[in-house]
Amino acid sequence: MPQVAVIGAQWGDEAKGKIVHFLAREAELAVRFNGGPNAGHTVQDAYGTVQLHLVPAGALQPGCAGVIAHGVVVDPQVLEEELDEIRRQGRPEPVVYLSDRASLILPHHRLVEELEGTARRIGTTRRGIGPAYQDRVARRGLRLGDLARPELVLEYLTELEADLKGRYGKAGFVPKQLADRLARFYAAWKERIVDSRAVVARALAEGQLVIFEGAQGTLLDLDLGTYPYVTSSTTTVHGIGWGVGVRLSEGARVIGVSKAYTTRVGEGPFPTEDTGEGGELLRRKGREYGATTGRPRRCGWLDLVALRYAHEVNSFTELAITKLDVLSGLDEIPVCTAYDLEGKSVEEFPKTIAELSVARPRYVRLPGWKEDIRKARCPSDLPREARSYIAFVEEVLGVPVTMAGVGPGEDELIILR
Ligand code: IMP
Repeated sequence: MPQVAVIGAQWGDEAKGKIVHFLAREAELAVRFNGGPNAGHTVQDAYGTVQLHLVPAGALQPGCAGVIAHGVVVDPQVLEEELDEIRRQGRPEPVVYLSDRASLILPHHRLVEELEGTARRIGTTRRGIGPAYQDRVARRGLRLGDLARPELVLEYLTELEADLKGRYGKAGFVPKQLADRLARFYAAWKERIVDSRAVVARALAEGQLVIFEGAQGTLLDLDLGTYPYVTSSTTTVHGIGWGVGVRLSEGARVIGVSKAYTTRVGEGPFPTEDTGEGGELLRRKGREYGATTGRPRRCGWLDLVALRYAHEVNSFTELAITKLDVLSGLDEIPVCTAYDLEGKSVEEFPKTIAELSVARPRYVRLPGWKEDIRKARCPSDLPREARSYIAFVEEVLGVPVTMAGVGPGEDELIILR
């Protein structure tokens, strides 16, 4: 069985959850390898709509277990609330394994994110993601496996509280209470806190279908994205090695997911942003409000310069284009094929934030279509202009588009090839 990596090709929110959920019908494992509860993977199926922040979207399919690998930062409270919501919807209980090496997000991480101004400066999701990764890299973080030693956890939290009070005047938690909460969490989860690398490696060795579920998108990658306006993890296909400790085999499918237009949440350059009526239309029709934060997303047109860069970084074997239905009704659709940079036309994605900030999009205008396409289920159901739009992306990038999303529902998907 080929393995599958589902990777955000833009600035996140590409509807990866929908694609993973669809592919997981046949999979045995769905593995989150990066990020944490900053993600908001939406699944809409017969049980209703659910926003998943930590549980892999694939784990909602019966027969597919979820793995939260060591590259993920885990907030136990968010995880438990999410599982409560899943149960409230009457869904079967998902099977989820957690890495014993995964770092914990503790209450002070959100506090530090606010107090140090990162939340405002970057426009983060305020979930404590950055500070939790900072502690991990500084080798002072608490990992899930550490919860097996409650006396050490209490000692750790007591020292941490004193340190935080010294630095910020407050800590945001009471050590004994938090230690007790973490002990309860550990008692409930200890059978599922495992060496996730070994679990995934075994599944791969047995030839099981494993889906690696990327969170955020390539342009939010800590190193390869639009630094400093990025998240704190490796969001690209390379995050699989980093965050799970296994490698994709030859022949793996690497699916880049891109919306038919572009959105971005938070600060940072966004060359094809449309702050006028066009952007407003996309926001309204595409319901572009953050799944994790509720913030209105910045909206604009498809950026093939950025997408080409994402392809360069990830070597996509195919693309999934989502939310194509949102473009219905437009007379023509702008698509950016190059940037204007100091009077020159460039097709290469600028490597510095200074250049990207002044890059202006050069658009070609493709003919739109009037038909509502949400009922389309096969390529021939799509209007000619919608097929041409997809063909244009394929031609410019040289990657086949194999899926097109035409609505939020699980069945609102067209397999193109
Ligand atoms: P953080 O990941 O909360 O530290 O936020 C850093 C940047 O990444 C901010 O611009 C966020 O809006 C953005 N970001 C993080 N997670 C997501 C996501 O799942 N979708 C879209 N943007 C995200």
